[in-house]
Amino acid sequence: MCGIVGYVGNLNAAPVLIDSLKKLEYRGYDSAGIAVLGKEVEIKVIKTQGRLSALESLVLDQKPQGNIGIGHTRWATHGEPNTENAHPHYNASRTIALVHNGIIENHGDLRQELTSRGYTFLSHTDTEVAVHLLDYYYKSEKDPKKAISMTLSRVKGSYAFGILFADCPNTVFAARKDSPLAVGLGQGENFIASDAPAILKHTHDVIYIDNDEIAEIQKDSVKVYHLNLKETAKEAVHIGWDPEAAEKNGFAHFMLKEIHEQPAAIRNTVFPRITDGNISLDELALSEDAIKNLRKIHIVACGSAYHAGVVGKYVIEKLARIPVEVDLASEFRYREPILEKDSFCIAISQSGETADTLAALREAKRQGLFTVAIVNVIGSTIAREADSVIHTHAGPEISVATTKAYSAQLATLYLVALRLALVRATVTKEDFAKLVKELKSLPEKIEMLLAEQESIKQFANKCKEKKDIFFIGRGIDYAAALEGSLKLKEISYIHSEAYAAGELKHGTISLIEKGTLVVSLATQPTLYEKTVSNTAEVICRGADILALTFGDNPALLQNAAFSVILPETDPIFSASLSVIPLQLFAYHISLAKGLDVDKPRNLAKSVTVE
Ligand code: AGP
Repeated sequence: MCGIVGYVGNLNAAPVLIDSLKKLEYRGYDSAGIAVLGKEVEIKVIKTQGRLSALESLVLDQKPQGNIGIGHTRWATHGEPNTENAHPHYNASRTIALVHNGIIENHGDLRQELTSRGYTFLSHTDTEVAVHLLDYYYKSEKDPKKAISMTLSRVKGSYAFGILFADCPNTVFAARKDSPLAVGLGQGENFIASDAPAILKHTHDVIYIDNDEIAEIQKDSVKVYHLNLKETAKEAVHIGWDPEAAEKNGFAHFMLKEIHEQPAAIRNTVFPRITDGNISLDELALSEDAIKNLRKIHIVACGSAYHAGVVGKYVIEKLARIPVEVDLASEFRYREPILEKDSFCIAISQSGETADTLAALREAKRQGLFTVAIVNVIGSTIAREADSVIHTHAGPEISVATTKAYSAQLATLYLVALRLALVRATVTKEDFAKLVKELKSLPEKIEMLLAEQESIKQFANKCKEKKDIFFIGRGIDYAAALEGSLKLKEISYIHSEAYAAGELKHGTISLIEKGTLVVSLATQPTLYEKTVSNTAEVICRGADILALTFGDNPALLQNAAFSVILPETDPIFSASLSVIPLQLFAYHISLAKGLDVDKPRNLAKSVTVE
């Protein structure tokens, strides 16, 4: 989704803005622009469709001078991705410029009103109404904060704004509602950004702007006001991430680097929470009695985080014997969910900013449920709004296709399941100890799988012309198949579907023909025979098989065109292993097809609109 940056300090703003925007490229965008305020009366706006390299060339040609500016990468929602629709947008006299992330839902009515007042629109965006409204109110109030507050009171929808007024040559203004925005605190310079990696190079200390707040940022001060313009005290949050962690560090792509960081992501998430064989998960913040009396757990999430939740359902139900309902967050919020007493809700999100997951979390809270967030980004909105947070420690994830954050989410769900199971006495102490030991050994088993990359690459190269690839599995393997299939389609653009192996014959098997690739996951010994039979059903219809299983499943292995034998582990942890070859398979197909692995078409890393 759109990325916002802003700078005020002593440096020339344009290069700082471009550099920060580069760090937000991963969010997904189709056009970009900056606005710089210098000595001239007019704000200098440079924008273009396409990649940041195109914007950078324009900036190098035009050399805008000034120590204050805002920048934007746009992911089109209203209006095609062209230069006119790129941000910043500005008023007729170019004395107010603004960048926006979010959607102004009542833009149609506002556009009509402003047109009737004589305003001329240069773009087809929802955003442009905001800059003309600002102009309208600023003319009457002569006070930027008042103009911002009055504008915001007219705007329906979600927004993070960065705003410049030529009359305030030392100030960047910012405001937000339901779209992320942080202020980075430097020495003699301050920043705004949609996401911390944009400013980590300059500062690790940030203030998160909350809903209905307006920030007034100068190089030596940051003041935050409520919409009613009363000043409000804010606390800074320290982000411990190493800026290097947001660099490729010699890997061809962020995705490949992040695939290789999975052992560390799991170690960092799991190891500090295990002491002397016990799991300390204070963040779960539920008393032992509450855990014993639990009647249900609701999990809400989107995309890969949802797939982690599906694994979590199988694992929690098996180990802790509590019913778990997993919902796509976008469905949960509108289905009028019936949430029982003595249940709690887990919201899973890497970014902590996914609009649908946030709305689902709010719905659970509204109905009085205790909410726990499993989130990677410290200080993100979901982390701040949940009653309790269990942070995954995957570090910054840049590639749009999630890998290490998903693995860290799985690891966290295992911790939750084991903790609940121990308190509820649904596993014996001996089994608990074995499972904890096994959980701790996952990183080295993942390292073993990463070492098999070359053979997976060779097989992936042979599959690059495939038009359809199916993934089948039962139980936890079905949950892992969902993730493998999503990974493949999002970066290779090959149509793919994941099916519960037993369900294929109820319709989808009609799509199987000679040469269709079916990835068969069979890691649950109690289900081996069933999955082998379902695999045989597609083989006899011409399918080629990629098999993922343990070494004791010759019936599946002998009929596979290619197979990966997973290192032995307890079957409840198999999803953490089977996902590795599936990520590598998707990565190498994308590479073989010459696609943009880290920034697949149409996708955004952080989906902050519904
Ligand atoms: C996965 O590769 C995708 N990028 C996407 O499905 C993602 O998992 C989803 O949008 C949820 O994001 P979140 O974890 O930041 O909430």
